[in-house]
Amino acid sequence: MYILGIETSCDETAAAVVLDGRTIVSNIVASQIDLHARYGGVFPELASRAHVEAIGAVVEQAVQDAGIPFDRLDAIAVTRGPGLVGSLLVGVNYAKGLALATGKPLLGINHLEGHVYSLWLTEPYREPQFPVLVLIVSGGHTELLLMTGHGQYQRLGGTVDDAAGEAFDKVGRLLGLPFPGGPHIERAAQLGNPIAYKFPRAKRDDSYDFSFSGLKTAVMREVTVPQSGSEPRQRSPEKTPKLRTDISVNDVAAAFQDALVSILVEKTARAAKAYQVTEILMAGGVSANQALRQRMRAEAGLPVRCPPLHLCTDNAAMIAAAGFFRYEAGLRDGLDLDVTAMWPLTGDAYAR
Ligand code: KG4
Ligand code: ZN
Repeated sequence: MYILGIETSCDETAAAVVLDGRTIVSNIVASQIDLHARYGGVFPELASRAHVEAIGAVVEQAVQDAGIPFDRLDAIAVTRGPGLVGSLLVGVNYAKGLALATGKPLLGINHLEGHVYSLWLTEPYREPQFPVLVLIVSGGHTELLLMTGHGQYQRLGGTVDDAAGEAFDKVGRLLGLPFPGGPHIERAAQLGNPIAYKFPRAKRDDSYDFSFSGLKTAVMREVTVPQSGSEPRQRSPEKTPKLRTDISVNDVAAAFQDALVSILVEKTARAAKAYQVTEILMAGGVSANQALRQRMRAEAGLPVRCPPLHLCTDNAAMIAAAGFFRYEAGLRDGLDLDVTAMWPLTGDAYAR
């Protein structure tokens, strides 16, 4: 079964063809990072315009790279949400147009479920044994899910403020590192001393929720020049970071990353034990982080599965993989499919 996946929920225009939900046949990602870098974050209007410009060529390329005629495709899976509405609309409308023109079935996919199914694209392929615990850590999300079967999720917790990737990006910006901050902080951290600074760690409660804004604020207090008394305190801290000259960027990066990883590992390991899962699956941009992978493997006491690095960040192969299992469950969406900006992944994703 060949599924064409389309993803435009944030700042990547992506299309891919995946065979039977497990084998990538083609995978095209047009990143807009350069476009947004000067704003230090994704600029929604620019993102949708760039998606409009790129989508036709990206989809064409994905089908061409797959080396099969368009007719051989069995269905079109597209990210329907959560994400930026203007960006989502570009992908959904394009997919609807294709479905209308070709009569192919249409499948609307939850972007978070896409990240989950990036784990089905690991090689060599090995079917996870349910129940598994899934930690999705990306620029927009931090979600801890119990997965009991295909499309079956129980949301155990998530961030109550910033997403893990967002914290990386904000601290990266404070430290004067390029956008997105995650990979740059990881690189700086490799050269730094994690105990040179002491930043706050786990949200010490019984929940499986995470909080990163206290950590971000602690880093900000440590590394920026204090504002004078006459400065308005309510001014957004992200807009006026003046870096102290006597700090070590590498040490701050190492200490920040260490604290953030501790927060993630502590609760994930506790949930894995409480729900007696067979395996921990990590997905999303931050799951590319080697320190997180190593600490999770060392401390959770269970196998930890991560996607290949190029599938951690947004891509359409994961959307096509999720689409395959949705298709297998007998689901189809109509041409009235609409985007859903806020869409938590919990319960039965295949419920009609
Ligand atoms: O999954 P993704 O492409 O976007 C969302 O769906 O939100 O993740 C992007 C996020 C960014 O915040 C980026 O800084 C972070 O993933 N990231 C990393 C690393 N690579 C990407 N964070 C930490 N370490 C990395 N190596
Ligand atoms: Zn994502």
